[in-house]
Amino acid sequence: MAFRNLLLADRGAVRRITIHRPDKLNALDRETINELHVAFDQARHDDAVRAVVLAGSGEKAFVAGADIGELSGLTAQQAQSFSRLGQALMSKIERLGKPVIARIQGFALGGGMELAMSCHLRVASDKARFGQPEINLGLIPGFGGTQRLLRLAGRGAALELCLTGRPIDAARARELGIVTHVVAPENLDTEVDALADQLAASAPHALAGILDAVLHGGESAIDVGLDYETQAFALCFATEDMREGTRAFLERRKPAFAGR
Ligand code: COA
Repeated sequence: MAFRNLLLADRGAVRRITIHRPDKLNALDRETINELHVAFDQARHDDAVRAVVLAGSGEKAFVAGADIGELSGLTAQQAQSFSRLGQALMSKIERLGKPVIARIQGFALGGGMELAMSCHLRVASDKARFGQPEINLGLIPGFGGTQRLLRLAGRGAALELCLTGRPIDAARARELGIVTHVVAPENLDTEVDALADQLAASAPHALAGILDAVLHGGESAIDVGLDYETQAFALCFATEDMREGTRAFLERRKPAFAGR
């Protein structure tokens, strides 16, 4: 499928998905969200893809939120369906079973911050700004922001950002645990590519096990999470990659994970 609002590029086993509406600061309209659903389905089902980078076009923004022009005319019923469509995309990314890195320059606001929070790792330029400004529109976050920010940074940060709508800079976002790496803008791609390459060269079944155990465990009692961990740990022993990883260590060489 050809995309109108996305650019796709593969570099080795890393797929980069770039949201390309620079004149609208990459705001998420329904069409873009639908395209992202398709792009992430394709990334999931393509065994050659072992890590995904999600980016926004241009210098100014990762994503400046849901498309306010489109939002402004919705009925309550249409808004419910729009929220569900966005939430389903965020859940799809979170549960992709492959690591997804958000590459964040400039603004990550509203739906842009929600999108970044659904990724597994967030690498930001020190010029990036984050926020949930929906309150300024008489709205609340609708793509999972109240829930993911709560889980990522705690109740204090979730209430502060959502109630005030005030943006925070990258340093504060790192303090709150919202971003994992903050780098100078000129180093953003080097940092993101190095991280993506490392993940793409790792054993994919083990990566999937970690994603599963952490994500499901975060929503369950510890015994349930520990059970997930045991199952995922045991499954690694059915892979060639686990044999290769342990053998390579004993033979004092670098492992080559084939993804089997
Ligand atoms: N939805 C639709 N269009 C958006 C948008 C959004 N969320 N965010 C930015 N745009 C559009 C602007 O309307 C403008 O389009 P135009 O040139 O056709 O008028 C273009 O992107 C550039 O934005 P502009 O506001 O002129 O840039 P700025 O540098 O002055 O301000 C922001 C940047 C991010 C502070 C500002 O655009 C903003 O506050 N955006 C909305 C953020 C928001 O509330 N997001 C949550 C939505 S639920």
